[in-house]
Formats: sequence, structure tokens, C-alpha cells
Amino acid sequence: MSVKKILTEPNKLLRLISKPVEKVGDEERVLMDDMLDTMYEAPGIGLAAIQIGVPKRIIVIDISKDENKKEPRYFVNPVIKNKNKEKVKYEEGCLSVPDQFAEIERPNTCEVEYLDYDGKKKLLKADGLLAICIQHEIDHLEGILFIDYLSKLKKSMIIKKLSKIRINREIF
Ligand code: NI
Repeated sequence: MSVKKILTEPNKLLRLISKPVEKVGDEERVLMDDMLDTMYEAPGIGLAAIQIGVPKRIIVIDISKDENKKEPRYFVNPVIKNKNKEKVKYEEGCLSVPDQFAEIERPNTCEVEYLDYDGKKKLLKADGLLAICIQHEIDHLEGILFIDYLSKLKKSMIIKKLSKIRINREIF
């Protein structure tokens, strides 16, 4: 298991559409372990494979926020089957858009079909933070970032800020 580098906006790889996984094997499990390590180290509550540069439809989530009671969840080829029409606003952030937060509106519950760590087919009814997180991560698999839901002006301001941060880091 190892911690990988997290790609940040405006890295073009983040805009790729990730490919479905044909079979959950050892290679995928090593990737999921690395993703989890990377997410905990960051720290964050969700990570998509493309955020470490791998365009596979895999996400990991742990919303427990408790060091001693980790509850990792693995989703391979996740598909949202059913979204509630009722929406909630949540202040979202993203490891690929460091230090930026914005209120985003999404359905407050969803049903997701996926393969688990062992490749078994599962269906999960999620609500609250978990439902929001699943939708945010599945967006990554489509090359969508939460800032895409903001106005053009807000989005370009954030991207400008991020570009500046990157230039400063390179000068050091
Ligand atoms: Ni994200």
C-alpha cells in the first residue's frame, strides 16, 4: 500500500471519462488500497481513481472521520439507479481543487449499484453525506468537478487561484 500524488485542477487528466473495470482482480485491489491510503493521508472522505491518474471507474469513500473506527467503502463501476428529486445544499470541497469550497445542490438520497472489493454485485441506498459524496465521486468518473456547477465567473476565479498556487509552488 502506498500514498500516491493527487492531481489537481487544471490537470487535463481530471477531465477524462474513466473506463469500466472488466473484472475486479488483484491489480484493482492494490489500486483501491493505494487510493484509500492516499485519501486518509490527504485527508479526505472520498477519492476517485482518476485523481491519482488512473482512468478506471473506481471510487473509495470513508465518511466515518474517526481514526479508530475506519469504515472504508469501495465502489467499482458505480451506477446511480435512482435519485431523489428533493435536493440539499452542501458545502463541498475536493482534494483535486485544494482549499476551495462552495455550496452545491444535489439530490439528498440515491441508490447506487456497484461491485465491491471482492467483485460482488451490490446495491446501496444512501442518504445524507454518503449520498452527496457518492455523487461527487461518480462525477469524477465523468470528468466533472464540483466547480463545474458554479457560475462561469466563480469557476474561473477558482481556477486562476489554483494556477497561482501552482506557480508559487514551482518557484520554491
Ligand atoms: Ni473530489
